Amino acid sequence: MNVLGIETSCDETSAALVKDGKKILSNVIFSQNPMHARFRGIVPEIASRAHVEKINGVLEKAIGNERVDALAVTVGPGLIGSLLVGKMAAQALAWVWEKPIVGVNHLEAHLFANALENPGLEPPFLGLIVSGGHTDLVIVQDYGRYRVIGRTRDDAAGESYDKVANLLKLGYPGGPAVDLLAQQGDPGAVPFPKPFLQGSWDFSFSGLKTAVLYYLRKNKKVRVADVCASFQNSVVSVLTAKAVSAAKTFKLGKISVGGGVAANSELRKRFQSEAKKHGLEVYLPSKSLCTDNAAMVAALGFHKLKRQKTAAAALKSLEVDPSLPIRNWE
Ligand code: KG4
Ligand code: ZN
Repeated sequence: MNVLGIETSCDETSAALVKDGKKILSNVIFSQNPMHARFRGIVPEIASRAHVEKINGVLEKAIGNERVDALAVTVGPGLIGSLLVGKMAAQALAWVWEKPIVGVNHLEAHLFANALENPGLEPPFLGLIVSGGHTDLVIVQDYGRYRVIGRTRDDAAGESYDKVANLLKLGYPGGPAVDLLAQQGDPGAVPFPKPFLQGSWDFSFSGLKTAVLYYLRKNKKVRVADVCASFQNSVVSVLTAKAVSAAKTFKLGKISVGGGVAANSELRKRFQSEAKKHGLEVYLPSKSLCTDNAAMVAALGFHKLKRQKTAAAALKSLEVDPSLPIRNWE
C-alpha cells in the first residue's frame, strides 16, 4: 500500500510516498530556512504563504507516476496557518481520488522515523523527541499507545540551540552552526550548569541559555567554539543521561531518538557510547529523517490506517490542532 504523506506543520513543505510503512519511494522536502534566517526565527505568515506557493510542486515531484492508495497528513502540533495548507491539500486529493485519509501527530511521527531505516524496530521502546519546539520522553508501548513521562518545562532542546546561536550571532537555525563550531572547541572550557532535575523526567534548558548569556556579558573575549562545545556538553549530557536512566527504570531495551536535534553529531556519538555501556539498543535516524519530513508522516499513517476503522470518515472530521498532544489512538 502506497501512502502519500504531507507535512507542513512548521517551515518545511514536504510530501513523500512510502510503501507499506517501510520503503521510501520519494521524500521531497522544501526547506524555508533561508526565508526566515534574516528574522532569526520562523515568521508564521511567511511560512504559510510559502507552503501555499510550494505545495503543488512538491506534491507533483513526490507522486511522479506512482499509484497512491491512501493519504496521511500532519494535523498538529504546529503553526495553524501552515498546518491548514497541508490539510486542505490532503483533503482535496483524498476527495478527488476517493482514497482513505488519516491525520497524524507530528511528534509521534518523529518517534517512528527510525522504523523507516530499521524495519525490525517495533514497540515497546523508549522514545526521545528533541525538536525545535518539543523535548519529550515517551514510553511507546505499541503503535498508538503512549505514556509521556517527561517534557520540557520551558525551552525545548532545539530552541536552546537556536537561542544560544542567536546570542553568538551564528544565524538561524542555530543547531547546525553550534554543532559545527563545537567540534573545534573544548567541552570542558566553561562549566555551564547541567539541569538534570533529579527526581523528575522533565527537562529545563532556559537556565542554561541564561547562563550562556551571563557568561558572554561578563567575558568580552571568548572562544566561540569553546562556548558552543561547553553548552552542547550540558545539553547532550542531560539528554543522554535521562533517556538511558528512563530506559533502565522502565525496563525498555531500545531507545528511539527523533527530531532535529537528533542530527547533532555529539548527541549521536554520546548516545551510541552510552547505549553500548548500558547494553541498550539506540536508534538515530539519518540526518534527512531527523528534521521535518513527510516520509515519517506517511510511515506512521500506514500503521494508523491499518488500525483505524474510521479512515474514510476522517475526510469530514479531519481537524488541525496547533497544540495537539501525544495521545492514544481510539
Ligand atoms: O524537528 P525539527 O526539524 O522541527 C521541529 O519540529 O521543531 O527540529 C528543528 C530544530 C531546530 O531548533 C534546529 O536548530 C535543531 O532542530 N537542529 C539541530 C541540529 N540540526 C537541527 N540542533 C543541534 N544540532 C544539529 N545538528
Ligand atoms: Zn519536527
